[in-house]
Amino acid sequence: MIHLKRQLPYRPTERMNVVSYPIRDIVMEAKSEEAKGKKMIYLNIGDPPQYGFEPFKVIAEQVKSALEENWKGYAPSEGDEQFRKTVAKIEKCNPEDVFAVAGLTEGIDFFFHSFIGFGEKVLLPNPVYPLYLSKAKQFEGDSVFYRHDVDGQIDVGNMAKKIEGAKAIVIINPNNPLGSVYSEKNLSEVVKLCGEYDVPIFYDGSYDQLILEGKQVDFRKIARDKVPFIYGSSLSKDFSYPGARIGWVTFHGDKWTEVKNAFFLLCNQRLSVNWEYQKAAAAAIVHPSYPAYIANMKMKLMERRDTFVKMASKLPLSFPVPKGAFYAFMKIETPKWKKDLQFVRAALKEGVVFVPGSGFGRQEDGVYFRSTFLPEPHIIEEAFAKIRRIL
Ligand SMILES: Cc1ncc(COP(=O)(O)O)c(C=O)c1O
Repeated sequence: MIHLKRQLPYRPTERMNVVSYPIRDIVMEAKSEEAKGKKMIYLNIGDPPQYGFEPFKVIAEQVKSALEENWKGYAPSEGDEQFRKTVAKIEKCNPEDVFAVAGLTEGIDFFFHSFIGFGEKVLLPNPVYPLYLSKAKQFEGDSVFYRHDVDGQIDVGNMAKKIEGAKAIVIINPNNPLGSVYSEKNLSEVVKLCGEYDVPIFYDGSYDQLILEGKQVDFRKIARDKVPFIYGSSLSKDFSYPGARIGWVTFHGDKWTEVKNAFFLLCNQRLSVNWEYQKAAAAAIVHPSYPAYIANMKMKLMERRDTFVKMASKLPLSFPVPKGAFYAFMKIETPKWKKDLQFVRAALKEGVVFVPGSGFGRQEDGVYFRSTFLPEPHIIEEAFAKIRRIL
């Protein structure tokens, strides 16, 4: 028998070294400033209710009525039947291709767990939502990055140089952190390229209803029958209800049978996703009042975006004007700041919380940070008045 020498304090495992989430990591520093009495404006996180956006009301109503039903057991691991049927209708796939997940976060985790093995190449956007970086490391994939052009469109030429041998490619549209919306032409070129190299796409559509400018393009239509893909979304952003922790992942194309089985096992392992919220999601995503709800949300977002852009353009900052979601990824155009974290910490001292650009992958050509434009216009103005002092 091996007797382990008792050691205090206990230490987490080595594999914890790759786990990080820069969007929240910075909050600890902000809280300690707040504890000293400083008022903080949090522009680090894309959490709509924090900034006064009401979740789509139908969800709470439907949760209440689901609570009155007798069912109090686990839901089926892969998802409630009605939920899967409803999502399948929207996604134009079979209910068996739909999996309920606890926010798309869990879908991304399951995707890497089931599909990206040791040393396997996964093509990620740069900049990228940090969870993808963390998951690729956790499952020991080989992350390779494709670039965007100055307007925030995918640089397909750059992608073409890197795609050979990739196991999968991730597309986030509208993009977090860039706020860009890829054009139909851009997406068609990507699909064509992926088809030529037989590389499937993981499409993160978390913000797919939040297109503020330009045409609403349905990626599923562009990609169907041309390249296998997985489409994911959730209630978090499009329905302003991140606390619901409900998302979905759907498989498209005929090559996924074994991966779907693996997904199924991962779903079984965590038993189930909250049943009442799945019931509510099924009602919400096809509810006749949703179009009016989302139109109102977009109207508010446009006003906030316009204020943000007006204020930011008075400062030495450059960025693609956000056309979707609720973020901007800003490059600092003054030699004063050499490191993003130094700038973010200085902004924090002024009372504004941003996320350093390096949290979204290594930025080689300059110093970047990400901001949300979710707050009301007067708060955005206040934030810019504060950071003007340090830029
Ligand atoms: C691009 C993107 N994907 C996925 C997620 C995860 O969202 P959730 O787990 O709340 O559905 C987020 C959250 O901010 C995101 O920005």
